[in-house]
Amino acid sequence: MDENQLIYFDNAATSWPKPENVYGYMMDFYRATGVNPGRSGFDLAIEAGSLLDRLRLRLTRFFGGDQDAPERLCFGYNATDALQLIINGLLGPGDHVVTTHLEHNSVLRPINHLVRDGGVSASFVPFDGAGFVDPDAIARAIRPETKLVIVNHGSNVIGTIQPVAAIGRICRERGVTFAIDTTQTAGVVPIDMQAMNVDVLAFTGHKALMGATGIGGLCVRKHVDLRQTRSGGTGVNSAHPFHLEEYPWRMEFGTPNMLGVASLWAGQDWLDEQGLETIRAHELRLATRLIEGLRPVEAVRLYCCDSLENHLSTFTLNIDGLDAGDVGTLLDVQHNIATRTGLHCAPLVHRQLGTEDINGGVRFSIGAFNTEAQVDVAIAAIAAIARWNAGRRGRVGGK
Ligand SMILES: Cc1ncc(COP(=O)(O)O)c(C=O)c1O
Repeated sequence: MDENQLIYFDNAATSWPKPENVYGYMMDFYRATGVNPGRSGFDLAIEAGSLLDRLRLRLTRFFGGDQDAPERLCFGYNATDALQLIINGLLGPGDHVVTTHLEHNSVLRPINHLVRDGGVSASFVPFDGAGFVDPDAIARAIRPETKLVIVNHGSNVIGTIQPVAAIGRICRERGVTFAIDTTQTAGVVPIDMQAMNVDVLAFTGHKALMGATGIGGLCVRKHVDLRQTRSGGTGVNSAHPFHLEEYPWRMEFGTPNMLGVASLWAGQDWLDEQGLETIRAHELRLATRLIEGLRPVEAVRLYCCDSLENHLSTFTLNIDGLDAGDVGTLLDVQHNIATRTGLHCAPLVHRQLGTEDINGGVRFSIGAFNTEAQVDVAIAAIAAIARWNAGRRGRVGGK
C-alpha cells in the first residue's frame, strides 16, 4: 500500500474512485455525442436522446418500476432535487406527512418549510435502540389526513436499512402514498418498488450507482401523480404556454445532464458485471473487520452496529472526551484517512443518539474499492488517537 495515498472512507458522501469504465465511457460519449438530446432532429441528437431513453428503461427495471411506463423515470440533479419535487408535488394545505428521525435534510427541510409556510403538519417517528423504525410505529402515526409516508431506506449516519416492504404494505392498506429515499441503498441492495409497495422513489447517481455528481432522479409508479412545482423548457411542444403535463417532461426541466446520464449508464454496466451481491459481500466483510477491530479499543463508542444484518457498510463512532471534528482532523492530518464528521445533514439522528452537543460523530463509509489493508490502518489510527487522548486526559487530571 502506498503510504502517501489517501485512504478514502467517505463513500456515503460520494463513491470514489469510480470504476474505470465509467471514466472511459463518459469521455467517449461526451466527445462523440455531447449534443443536446431531444431538441433537434439530426442523427447525433437522436442518438443522444436514445441513451437517455434506454437509461430510463434500464433504471425502471433496476428499481422495479412500471416497465411499460419508463417515461416515469425522470432525471434531475440529485436526490435532493428529486425529493423536493416529490414532497412539494404531493403535499398541500391541510395534509399530514409521516417521516422519521433517520431522514436527511433533503427530506426534513422541504417538510419543515411546508409545515412553517404551507399549512402542512408532520409526524417524525423515532428509531429503536438498534437503529430501525418499527412499521407499527409508522402505522400509529398515520391519520385520516395523512397523504404521504416518506422514509430513508438506508441511514447515511448509522447505516441501518429500514423495513420498507413492511412499511409499504401498511401504506397500501391505509391508502397512503409511500415514498423512499434510496440515496444510500441504490446500487447496494436490490430494490423492487412493486414488491415493496413503493409508490415513488428518489435516487442519486453519484454514490453506489457509481455515476458522476449532478445526476439523480425519481421513479413514479403509474397510479401516482405529482403536482408540478416548476416549469420551463422541455424541448418539445414549444408553442404550449405551460409546462407539459406528460412524463418525463412533467418532472424534467431544461437540458439534461448528459455527461451524468452517460456515467449512470456505465455505472449500470459495472454493477451488472460485478453483481450487487458480490460488491455488498466485500463491503460488509470490510465493515465487519473494521467494527470488530474497533470494538475492543477503550473509549470508542460505536452506534447501532451490534449486528450488521440489514446494515450498510456505513457506521458512526465517537471517542469519549474528544470532539468528533477533532477526531476527523487527526485522522486526516496524521493518518491520511478521509471520513466525514459532524451531523451528516441528519440532525434528528444525532439528537436521538445524544451526539448533537459533541459535534455529531465520525462516519466511516466503506466502498467497493476499499481494502483490508486500509481497514487495518484505520483501526490502528483510531486506537492511537484514543491512546493519545487517554494519556492527555491523565496528564490534566481526567479533564
Ligand atoms: C440519505 C440521504 N438522502 C439524501 C441525500 C442527498 O443526496 P444528494 O446530495 O446527492 O442530493 C443524501 C446525501 O448524502 C443522503 O445520504
